Amino acid sequence: MNNAVAGFSKWSKEEKIDWIAKSYFSNPEEAVSLLKNYWNSDANVQKLHDEFIENTITNFYLPLGIAPNFLINGKYYTVPMAIEESSVVAAAAKSAKFWSTRGGFKATVLNTEKIGQVHFIFKGNSEKLTAFFNQIKPKFYSDTESLTKNMQQRGGGILNIELRDKTTALPDYFQLHATFETKDSMGANFINSCLEQFSKTLKEEALSFDHFSEEEKNIQVVMSILSNYVPNCIVRAEVSCPIEALAEKHIENPHEFAEKFVRAVQIAEVEPFRAVTHNKGIMNGIDAVVLATGNDFRAIEAAIHAYASRNGQYSSLSHAKIEDGIFSFWMEIPLALGTVGGLTSLHPLVKFALQMLEKPSAQQLMQIVAVAGLAQNFAALRSLTTTGIQEGHMKMHLNNILNQFEATDEERALVKKHFKIHAVSHSAAVNLIAELRK
Ligand code: MEV
Repeated sequence: MNNAVAGFSKWSKEEKIDWIAKSYFSNPEEAVSLLKNYWNSDANVQKLHDEFIENTITNFYLPLGIAPNFLINGKYYTVPMAIEESSVVAAAAKSAKFWSTRGGFKATVLNTEKIGQVHFIFKGNSEKLTAFFNQIKPKFYSDTESLTKNMQQRGGGILNIELRDKTTALPDYFQLHATFETKDSMGANFINSCLEQFSKTLKEEALSFDHFSEEEKNIQVVMSILSNYVPNCIVRAEVSCPIEALAEKHIENPHEFAEKFVRAVQIAEVEPFRAVTHNKGIMNGIDAVVLATGNDFRAIEAAIHAYASRNGQYSSLSHAKIEDGIFSFWMEIPLALGTVGGLTSLHPLVKFALQMLEKPSAQQLMQIVAVAGLAQNFAALRSLTTTGIQEGHMKMHLNNILNQFEATDEERALVKKHFKIHAVSHSAAVNLIAELRK
């Protein structure tokens, strides 16, 4: 069947659904009713979601869970997490509770600078280009006044604009490398609008710069775009306590535990195969909060993984040490987040999540998100170095297996009772359900 289609985006939602149902499903009515079951009963809320993107046909649910008892800089937070992976919220809550009785998490925003670049081609004398840039630099600021006015009132704006010569990397390639402070907004629109104006100013002013030859006047802007890499927008999250204070169920010997834990972190520091999984566990916590608070998790992921490779080899984001009988575990990561603008004032559940966090500033949200990542990493390493990861993971996953087999309430109760005293595995659960159904 040829399912190519023209003008699809202009079709009504009903037409799109009808076409999909008839093109791909043997029972089109069933497919349509599945999609409609996921619509919001409030037409206004549904319209809002429809308009977030193009060609919306329904909503795609993720659970929104909450992890309470996060003590951060002396204040308790209940952290919203949007995630599908069974064990993540449970692990976050467990870690939060553990550290709440050991001084809590400390988090510090180290800096908040954002970056944007105009990438351009200049064929000519780079000294003349530098002279030209220095002469027109004030014009970049004056031409963007209407864009920066509001941001300046909020304490933000353009921090600096530099000319960068990148010709050793690529012939004739130069950049305007600009830095910004965007306060509580993530700032993508603000930065991109400023950059597009810089690019216009650059091209126009070059045309009337007397010292340029005709070829030099013809600056070609390739693109103007913010960078999601924000190595100067860093937050630090940390925990520490005397080694003895680590003692708990599964941590009978805290010294042995602390040493093994530090060793596990060191392995992730030197071994990229382990570092990727180690950092993935950190991202379980980070992405879930980023998503729940309406931020762009792809941007956050890209920045954090780039940062994890900043020394030339992909490495652990977190670090741990034992010094003078004190166990410390910490992480510094780049996080460009917003608590105003974007989805934050549109998505009803994002508004709800931000209210739950007591309307944090972007800097407070950076702290909360970083702590969620560190807590997740602590929970993963704690399990990995003690019981193994599968025990906790499979306990949480048991519900998914029971749902997959459409288990009755009675079967669920029996299966759960059985696995209170036996190790959970997929095959053991499947066999037990089969046995019960004989
Ligand atoms: C699973 O989603 C995350 C872990 O693999 C992280 C880790 O290995 O550190 C448990």
